[in-house]
Amino acid sequence: MNRRYRRTIIAGNWKMNKTPAESKILIEELKPIIAKAKWCETVLCVPFVDIPIAVRLLKDTRVAVGAQNLHQNESGAFTGEVSGAMLKNAGCKYVIIGHSERRQYFGETDALVNAKAHTALNAGLRPIICVGESLEQREMGLTMDLVSLQVKAALANVTVEQLRKVVFAYEPIWAIGTGKTATSEQAAEVCEHIRTVIRKMYGARAARSVTIQYGGSMNAENASELLAQQDVDGGLIGGASLKAKDFIAIVNAANQ
Ligand code: 13P
Repeated sequence: MNRRYRRTIIAGNWKMNKTPAESKILIEELKPIIAKAKWCETVLCVPFVDIPIAVRLLKDTRVAVGAQNLHQNESGAFTGEVSGAMLKNAGCKYVIIGHSERRQYFGETDALVNAKAHTALNAGLRPIICVGESLEQREMGLTMDLVSLQVKAALANVTVEQLRKVVFAYEPIWAIGTGKTATSEQAAEVCEHIRTVIRKMYGARAARSVTIQYGGSMNAENASELLAQQDVDGGLIGGASLKAKDFIAIVNAANQ
């Protein structure tokens, strides 16, 4: 973290978990504690159907609500899809884009991630853009090149003003849901690399203000060490965000 230049953001990615009734229970457990966090912003990225209840319960708190996906078009005949304007109007501030699960199971390409980033920004949402390598790619020594390509593609035609709204999340695929966290050195190295790529595109001032999160088996035990790294400005948390005690511990670690 480097609070002098950028916001620390702790976001829970609930993935496809929690019905509206279940989300109410979890948010009521989380709210009294995470709403008090002063030194970091907290976000709950919930399933679409949970957005109304999350927005209602978190109204007038500092906790933001996010979605996990949006469609790249503004509106139209796209049965089953949800637009940026719908999310914005429902009360979302953030939307996750290009999560590795969407890249893997729904065929999302770098070009689509870029299109969705533009749609989100045009709708007034802050995109949390996910990048990261597979185990095979890491073992082949391709991590840095791959992440560079993902970052550059995601930011194609994004202006420096728009960049201020963009958050990145470095999520090594091999660390997601596996209990196998990247070491703080590995996380720091790639997050720093992401900032270097952004610096080359937009200059030092713009790059130092971008929040870059780490995601992948982040939990109550390893959060402090990961967040102690200069270029790790927060977390995108899956499994541990579904347990009030664990998510609160991570928020507390970021709020030190
Ligand atoms: P886990 O924290 O469950 O590894 O998930 C990370 C993730 O994919 C967040 O987007």
